[in-house]
Amino acid sequence: MTGRYSRITGWGKYTPSRILTNADLEKMVDTSDEWIVTRTGIRERHIVGPGETNATMSVAASRQALDVAGLMPKDIELIIVATSSPDHFVPAIASEVQYQLGAECPAFTISTGCTGFVYALATAHQFIATGAYDRVLVIGSEVISMFVNWQDRNTCVLFGDGAGAVVLEVSNQPSGVQSFVLGSDGSSGNALIVRGGGCAYPMSHEMIDDKAMYIEMDGRKVFKFATRVMGEATLEAVEKAGLTLADIDLLIPHQANLRIIQLAARYLKLPMEKVVVNLDRYGNTSAASIPIAMVEALEEGRIRDGMNICMVGFGGGLTWAAAVVGWGQPAQPVEWPLVWRFAPAGRKVSMAATRLRLQARQLADVASYHASSVLLPLYTFAGLHKTGDKKRRIRIVSCVLLTQHAISPPSIGVPGTQQTDQCPHPNARVASHIIWPFGIG
Ligand code: ACO
Repeated sequence: MTGRYSRITGWGKYTPSRILTNADLEKMVDTSDEWIVTRTGIRERHIVGPGETNATMSVAASRQALDVAGLMPKDIELIIVATSSPDHFVPAIASEVQYQLGAECPAFTISTGCTGFVYALATAHQFIATGAYDRVLVIGSEVISMFVNWQDRNTCVLFGDGAGAVVLEVSNQPSGVQSFVLGSDGSSGNALIVRGGGCAYPMSHEMIDDKAMYIEMDGRKVFKFATRVMGEATLEAVEKAGLTLADIDLLIPHQANLRIIQLAARYLKLPMEKVVVNLDRYGNTSAASIPIAMVEALEEGRIRDGMNICMVGFGGGLTWAAAVVGWGQPAQPVEWPLVWRFAPAGRKVSMAATRLRLQARQLADVASYHASSVLLPLYTFAGLHKTGDKKRRIRIVSCVLLTQHAISPPSIGVPGTQQTDQCPHPNARVASHIIWPFGIG
């Protein structure tokens, strides 16, 4: 078996130091520690403090991941951030992270709710498997606390903030990401929704009075959905990897509710010793929950070389996702075919050629801009204009102003004779077409 595999070689997490306990919540809404623990398993969660944002947490987790992998930010060729709570709509959080980290690579954001990290991992794996990149940084990071209505006991007891990151590197040995399953059922999207702030219900006083900027959830519906898809997605991913459930050493489920996790484990007949649970200390950190749980399991020595781990999650959308990952190096290294061995050199040559082509095009554009910002007489039109009994000869000269940039046509000429319009062709260099009355006589 030969090919390009993607292995997790670095990992890190960041959780804010500020902790919100169930006792704190008892003072804020009509709830109790007993209700929260028995219904969810959550005891406390971390909430961002001053100076902490989605980007700062992402960067902190990523620095740890790079350290473990022994890489510098400039070694990373692609960054994918999974989040539903970015610092801004624009720019994308992935670009903010790329800049703050000091990386020089493309970056983009994935938003599939709590399944975001597994979606991002599967995407990164594709980029590596196809030979596009060798080293990808995958981040799951959330500041869900900003979208929680702290007066709504149905939701505010559930969520927390945090970030986790992994470095995925190419390997010629059959390990790392073995399979993935991704799913979406938009028909139940309303079960977990932030109604306001987007194009459908834009920001307004009315929207804020309506409290539409907060998470709203049909808890029972999500619960039912989750218990079904967690087991099914895990089974499918395990089968796709060519394994059986007996081969799975550790299940890392999305940390939303202990009862959901227990039901999934029971469905899969996996003992709870093989399941990672840390939601008692973090709550539901959405796209960050799986990587944070994975990093904790590593720190506790629960993940070792040669193990097969399965990550599985569900979330807003509604979506589901699972991935089977082989940890460490297998015993038998595999030789790459020549094409993969020379792929990095080929990519460098192709990038240098692209850079040269772009520079040449920029030079040509600048030269063309300076040369063409002149009015060129295009055609003249002569005719007779009748005013009362008198006939006057008029001549109209039409000019085309050539320019690289769209400009407003100047307001010139005699009222009634001026005409301006935009050239309809999208690729035309003509930005303004001016009929300029000239030489009325
Ligand atoms: N404290 C006290 N009582 C509460 C609280 C609270 N914090 N929240 C709700 N209740 C009440 C309800 O009002 C309801 O009272 P009622 O019967 O008088 O109307 C009662 O408790 C029971 O409500 P249920 O909805 O039946 O409670 P349930 O056992 O289903 O637990 C929960 C609710 C925890 C939300 C559960 O349904 C759940 O975990 N669902 C999945 C949620 C989830 O995972 N969401 C995130 C997924 S996606 C993502 O991670 C972004």
